[in-house]
Amino acid sequence: MACILATGIVTLDIINEVASYPEEDAEVRALSQRIRRGGNASNTLCVLSQLGHQSYLASTLINEADGQVIETDLNRYQINIQFCPRLNEGKMPTSYITLNRQNGSRTIVHHRDCPELSYAAFQHIDLSLFDWLHFEGRNIAELQKILKHCRQKAPNLPISLEIEKPREDIESLFYWADWLFFSSHYAKARGFQSAEDMLASLPVNYQATLTWGAEGAYGWHNGKVMFVPATKNNHVVDSLGAGDTFNAGMIHSLVAENSLQNSLQFASQLAAEKCQQYGFENLV
Ligand code: FRU
Repeated sequence: MACILATGIVTLDIINEVASYPEEDAEVRALSQRIRRGGNASNTLCVLSQLGHQSYLASTLINEADGQVIETDLNRYQINIQFCPRLNEGKMPTSYITLNRQNGSRTIVHHRDCPELSYAAFQHIDLSLFDWLHFEGRNIAELQKILKHCRQKAPNLPISLEIEKPREDIESLFYWADWLFFSSHYAKARGFQSAEDMLASLPVNYQATLTWGAEGAYGWHNGKVMFVPATKNNHVVDSLGAGDTFNAGMIHSLVAENSLQNSLQFASQLAAEKCQQYGFENLV
Protein backbone atom coordinates (compact mmCIF):
# COMPACT_ATOMS: atom_id res chain seq x y z
CA MET A 1 0.00 0.00 0.00
CA ALA A 2 1.35 3.42 -0.97
CA CYS A 3 0.35 6.97 -0.20
CA ILE A 4 -0.33 8.82 -3.45
CA LEU A 5 -1.08 12.48 -4.15
CA ALA A 6 -2.64 13.53 -7.46
CA THR A 7 -3.40 17.00 -8.76
CA GLY A 8 -5.72 18.01 -11.58
CA ILE A 9 -9.33 18.99 -11.95
CA VAL A 10 -12.32 17.21 -10.55
CA THR A 11 -15.51 17.43 -12.59
CA LEU A 12 -19.19 16.65 -12.62
CA ASP A 13 -19.86 14.31 -15.56
CA ILE A 14 -23.36 14.26 -17.04
CA ILE A 15 -23.36 11.19 -19.24
CA ASN A 16 -26.10 10.64 -21.80
CA GLU A 17 -25.98 7.22 -23.41
CA VAL A 18 -27.36 7.15 -26.96
CA ALA A 19 -28.07 4.30 -29.41
CA SER A 20 -25.67 5.84 -31.95
CA TYR A 21 -23.81 9.13 -32.30
CA PRO A 22 -26.32 11.81 -33.44
CA GLU A 23 -26.19 13.85 -36.64
CA GLU A 24 -25.62 17.57 -36.19
CA ASP A 25 -28.90 19.41 -35.45
CA ALA A 26 -30.70 16.13 -34.65
CA GLU A 27 -32.91 15.58 -31.62
CA VAL A 28 -32.46 12.19 -30.00
CA ARG A 29 -33.56 10.47 -26.80
CA ALA A 30 -30.95 9.34 -24.34
CA LEU A 31 -31.18 5.63 -23.43
CA SER A 32 -29.94 6.47 -19.94
CA GLN A 33 -28.40 9.30 -17.97
CA ARG A 34 -25.77 9.08 -15.24
CA ILE A 35 -24.40 11.91 -13.15
CA ARG A 36 -20.99 11.16 -11.70
CA ARG A 37 -17.80 12.61 -10.33
CA GLY A 38 -15.06 12.69 -12.96
CA GLY A 39 -11.80 14.34 -13.94
CA ASN A 40 -8.60 12.53 -14.85
CA ALA A 41 -6.74 12.78 -11.54
CA SER A 42 -9.81 11.97 -9.46
CA ASN A 43 -10.64 8.97 -11.69
CA THR A 44 -7.07 7.73 -11.37
CA LEU A 45 -7.26 8.05 -7.57
CA CYS A 46 -10.63 6.29 -7.47
CA VAL A 47 -8.97 3.25 -9.12
CA LEU A 48 -5.84 3.50 -6.94
CA SER A 49 -8.04 3.59 -3.87
CA GLN A 50 -9.69 0.34 -4.97
CA LEU A 51 -6.22 -1.13 -5.48
CA GLY A 52 -5.60 -0.53 -1.78
CA HIS A 53 -3.63 2.75 -1.82
CA GLN A 54 -4.15 5.83 0.32
CA SER A 55 -5.29 8.45 -2.17
CA TYR A 56 -5.03 12.22 -1.74
CA LEU A 57 -6.43 14.76 -4.20
CA ALA A 58 -5.21 18.34 -4.58
CA SER A 59 -7.79 20.13 -6.71
CA THR A 60 -10.01 23.19 -6.33
CA LEU A 61 -13.42 22.46 -4.78
CA ILE A 62 -16.31 24.91 -4.83
CA ASN A 63 -18.99 25.07 -2.18
CA GLU A 64 -22.04 24.64 -4.42
CA ALA A 65 -24.60 21.89 -5.03
CA ASP A 66 -22.55 19.99 -7.64
CA GLY A 67 -19.51 20.30 -5.39
CA GLN A 68 -21.48 18.37 -2.77
CA VAL A 69 -22.25 15.53 -5.22
CA ILE A 70 -18.55 15.37 -6.08
CA GLU A 71 -17.41 15.40 -2.46
CA THR A 72 -19.82 12.65 -1.47
CA ASP A 73 -18.37 10.44 -4.17
CA LEU A 74 -14.76 11.28 -3.26
CA ASN A 75 -15.61 10.26 0.30
CA ARG A 76 -17.21 7.04 -0.92
CA TYR A 77 -13.88 6.09 -2.49
CA GLN A 78 -11.96 7.28 0.57
CA ILE A 79 -10.11 9.92 -1.42
CA ASN A 80 -8.67 12.39 1.06
CA ILE A 81 -9.50 16.03 0.22
CA GLN A 82 -7.71 17.82 3.05
CA PHE A 83 -5.34 19.50 0.55
CA CYS A 84 -8.12 20.78 -1.74
CA PRO A 85 -8.50 24.57 -1.67
CA ARG A 86 -12.16 25.59 -1.24
CA LEU A 87 -13.95 28.50 -2.86
CA ASN A 88 -17.38 29.97 -2.24
CA GLU A 89 -17.83 31.29 -5.76
CA GLY A 90 -17.74 29.74 -9.21
CA LYS A 91 -18.93 26.40 -10.55
CA MET A 92 -17.38 22.95 -10.52
CA PRO A 93 -16.08 22.01 -13.99
CA THR A 94 -18.83 20.15 -15.82
CA SER A 95 -18.56 17.70 -18.71
CA TYR A 96 -21.55 16.93 -20.92
CA ILE A 97 -20.77 13.52 -22.33
CA THR A 98 -22.42 11.60 -25.18
CA LEU A 99 -21.69 7.90 -24.77
CA ASN A 100 -22.31 5.87 -27.91
CA ARG A 101 -23.79 2.45 -27.10
CA GLN A 102 -22.59 1.05 -30.45
CA ASN A 103 -18.91 1.30 -29.61
CA GLY A 104 -18.51 2.87 -26.14
CA SER A 105 -16.98 6.08 -27.56
CA ARG A 106 -17.37 9.18 -25.41
CA THR A 107 -17.70 12.68 -26.85
CA ILE A 108 -17.11 15.42 -24.29
CA VAL A 109 -18.26 19.05 -24.19
CA HIS A 110 -16.55 20.61 -21.22
CA HIS A 111 -17.45 23.81 -19.37
CA ARG A 112 -15.43 25.42 -16.63
CA ASP A 113 -15.46 28.47 -14.41
CA CYS A 114 -13.12 27.29 -11.69
CA PRO A 115 -9.57 28.33 -10.91
CA GLU A 116 -6.80 25.77 -11.27
CA LEU A 117 -4.71 24.67 -8.31
CA SER A 118 -2.04 27.31 -7.64
CA TYR A 119 1.57 26.88 -6.57
CA ALA A 120 0.71 29.06 -3.55
CA ALA A 121 -1.82 26.42 -2.40
CA PHE A 122 0.37 23.45 -3.28
CA GLN A 123 3.46 24.59 -1.43
CA HIS A 124 1.76 24.04 1.96
CA ILE A 125 1.40 20.31 1.36
CA ASP A 126 3.75 18.15 3.44
CA LEU A 127 5.39 16.01 0.75
CA SER A 128 6.99 13.70 3.30
CA LEU A 129 3.58 11.97 3.61
CA PHE A 130 3.77 10.53 0.10
CA ASP A 131 5.34 7.65 -1.84
CA TRP A 132 4.28 8.89 -5.29
CA LEU A 133 3.09 12.17 -6.86
CA HIS A 134 0.94 12.26 -9.99
CA PHE A 135 0.14 15.40 -11.99
CA GLU A 136 -2.22 16.21 -14.84
CA GLY A 137 -0.27 18.14 -17.48
CA ARG A 138 -2.28 21.40 -17.38
CA ASN A 139 -1.99 24.89 -15.90
CA ILE A 140 1.55 24.89 -17.25
CA ALA A 141 3.11 28.00 -15.68
CA GLU A 142 1.96 27.05 -12.17
CA LEU A 143 2.79 23.38 -12.66
CA GLN A 144 6.37 24.28 -13.60
CA LYS A 145 6.74 25.95 -10.20
CA ILE A 146 5.03 23.05 -8.43
CA LEU A 147 7.26 20.43 -10.06
CA LYS A 148 10.42 22.41 -9.32
CA HIS A 149 9.29 22.76 -5.70
CA CYS A 150 8.72 18.98 -5.45
CA ARG A 151 12.20 18.27 -6.82
CA GLN A 152 13.78 20.68 -4.34
CA LYS A 153 11.84 19.48 -1.29
CA ALA A 154 11.67 15.75 -2.08
CA PRO A 155 14.24 14.90 -4.76
CA ASN A 156 13.68 11.12 -4.51
CA LEU A 157 9.90 11.11 -4.56
CA PRO A 158 8.71 9.54 -7.85
CA ILE A 159 6.69 11.84 -10.08
CA SER A 160 4.40 10.84 -12.94
CA LEU A 161 2.99 13.39 -15.35
CA GLU A 162 0.02 12.81 -17.64
CA ILE A 163 0.36 14.41 -21.07
CA GLU A 164 -3.09 14.01 -22.57
CA LYS A 165 -3.62 17.13 -24.65
CA PRO A 166 -1.25 19.39 -26.55
CA ARG A 167 -0.97 22.65 -24.58
CA GLU A 168 1.34 25.57 -25.12
CA ASP A 169 4.73 24.90 -23.53
CA ILE A 170 3.67 21.57 -22.01
CA GLU A 171 6.99 20.10 -23.19
CA SER A 172 8.77 22.33 -20.64
CA LEU A 173 7.36 20.06 -17.91
CA PHE A 174 8.84 16.79 -19.20
CA TYR A 175 12.23 17.28 -17.60
CA TRP A 176 10.80 17.27 -14.07
CA ALA A 177 8.97 13.94 -14.18
CA ASP A 178 10.28 10.40 -13.70
CA TRP A 179 7.44 9.00 -15.78
CA LEU A 180 5.55 10.62 -18.65
CA PHE A 181 2.16 9.10 -19.47
CA PHE A 182 1.33 10.18 -23.05
CA SER A 183 -1.94 9.75 -24.95
CA SER A 184 -2.20 8.99 -28.67
CA HIS A 185 -4.19 12.22 -28.97
CA TYR A 186 -1.11 14.20 -27.91
CA ALA A 187 1.24 12.21 -30.16
CA LYS A 188 -1.00 12.63 -33.22
CA ALA A 189 -1.50 16.35 -32.53
CA ARG A 190 2.30 16.68 -32.52
CA GLY A 191 2.30 15.16 -36.01
CA PHE A 192 3.59 11.66 -35.19
CA GLN A 193 2.12 8.88 -37.34
CA SER A 194 3.25 6.06 -35.10
CA ALA A 195 3.83 5.48 -31.38
CA GLU A 196 7.40 4.32 -32.08
CA ASP A 197 8.26 7.60 -33.81
CA MET A 198 6.87 9.65 -30.94
CA LEU A 199 8.74 7.70 -28.25
CA ALA A 200 11.98 7.57 -30.22
CA SER A 201 11.92 11.38 -30.35
CA LEU A 202 12.38 11.48 -26.54
CA PRO A 203 15.79 11.69 -24.88
CA VAL A 204 17.19 8.25 -23.95
CA ASN A 205 17.12 8.97 -20.22
CA TYR A 206 13.34 9.63 -20.20
CA GLN A 207 10.79 6.99 -19.15
CA ALA A 208 7.37 7.06 -20.75
CA THR A 209 4.22 5.23 -21.72
CA LEU A 210 2.03 5.91 -24.74
CA THR A 211 -1.43 4.37 -25.16
CA TRP A 212 -2.48 3.64 -28.73
CA GLY A 213 -6.19 2.80 -28.55
CA ALA A 214 -7.33 -0.66 -29.63
CA GLU A 215 -3.77 -1.48 -30.79
CA GLY A 216 -2.15 -1.52 -27.35
CA ALA A 217 0.28 0.38 -25.14
CA TYR A 218 3.91 1.34 -25.69
CA GLY A 219 6.70 2.08 -23.25
CA TRP A 220 10.04 3.91 -23.50
CA HIS A 221 12.91 2.93 -21.19
CA ASN A 222 16.72 2.99 -21.65
CA GLY A 223 16.23 4.34 -25.15
CA LYS A 224 14.14 1.32 -26.24
CA VAL A 225 10.50 1.04 -27.30
CA MET A 226 8.36 -1.72 -25.77
CA PHE A 227 4.91 -2.82 -26.86
CA VAL A 228 2.07 -4.68 -25.18
CA PRO A 229 -0.87 -5.52 -27.49
CA ALA A 230 -4.33 -4.61 -26.19
CA THR A 231 -6.43 -7.36 -24.68
CA LYS A 232 -9.09 -8.40 -27.25
CA ASN A 233 -12.19 -6.57 -26.16
CA ASN A 234 -15.38 -7.31 -28.02
CA HIS A 235 -17.69 -5.62 -25.57
CA VAL A 236 -16.69 -1.98 -25.05
CA VAL A 237 -19.57 -0.26 -23.26
CA ASP A 238 -17.86 2.75 -21.64
CA SER A 239 -14.42 4.07 -22.54
CA LEU A 240 -14.79 7.18 -20.35
CA GLY A 241 -11.79 7.24 -18.02
CA ALA A 242 -10.00 4.29 -19.68
CA GLY A 243 -6.80 6.35 -19.90
CA ASP A 244 -7.14 7.42 -16.27
CA THR A 245 -7.51 3.75 -15.31
CA PHE A 246 -4.42 2.85 -17.35
CA ASN A 247 -2.45 5.53 -15.46
CA ALA A 248 -3.67 4.13 -12.12
CA GLY A 249 -2.54 0.65 -13.20
CA MET A 250 0.90 2.01 -14.12
CA ILE A 251 1.33 3.82 -10.80
CA HIS A 252 0.15 0.77 -8.85
CA SER A 253 2.64 -1.47 -10.60
CA LEU A 254 5.59 0.96 -10.75
CA VAL A 255 5.34 1.95 -7.09
CA ALA A 256 5.75 -1.79 -6.33
CA GLU A 257 8.91 -1.68 -8.50
CA ASN A 258 7.63 -4.01 -11.20
CA SER A 259 9.26 -3.84 -14.63
CA LEU A 260 7.91 -1.53 -17.32
CA GLN A 261 6.84 -4.52 -19.42
CA ASN A 262 4.83 -6.05 -16.55
CA SER A 263 3.39 -2.67 -15.62
CA LEU A 264 2.22 -2.05 -19.19
CA GLN A 265 0.60 -5.48 -19.18
CA PHE A 266 -1.20 -4.87 -15.89
CA ALA A 267 -2.35 -1.34 -16.78
CA SER A 268 -3.62 -2.41 -20.22
CA GLN A 269 -5.61 -5.29 -18.74
CA LEU A 270 -7.14 -3.01 -16.10
CA ALA A 271 -8.08 -0.39 -18.74
CA ALA A 272 -9.65 -3.12 -20.91
CA GLU A 273 -11.72 -4.32 -17.95
CA LYS A 274 -12.85 -0.77 -17.29
CA CYS A 275 -14.12 -0.46 -20.87
CA GLN A 276 -16.36 -3.49 -20.33
CA GLN A 277 -18.31 -1.84 -17.52
CA TYR A 278 -19.99 1.48 -16.80
CA GLY A 279 -18.00 3.74 -14.47
CA PHE A 280 -15.42 2.53 -11.97
CA GLU A 281 -17.58 0.73 -9.42
CA ASN A 282 -16.02 -2.55 -8.20
CA LEU A 283 -13.39 -2.37 -10.92
CA VAL A 284 -10.85 -4.18 -8.81
C1 FRU B 1 -12.33 11.18 -18.42
C2 FRU B 1 -12.51 12.56 -17.85
C3 FRU B 1 -13.94 12.83 -17.41
C4 FRU B 1 -13.94 14.34 -17.42
C5 FRU B 1 -13.05 14.69 -18.59
C6 FRU B 1 -12.20 15.90 -18.31
O1 FRU B 1 -10.98 10.96 -18.73
O2 FRU B 1 -11.65 12.76 -16.74
O3 FRU B 1 -14.29 12.23 -16.19
O4 FRU B 1 -15.18 14.89 -17.56
O5 FRU B 1 -12.23 13.57 -18.82
O6 FRU B 1 -11.36 16.21 -19.39
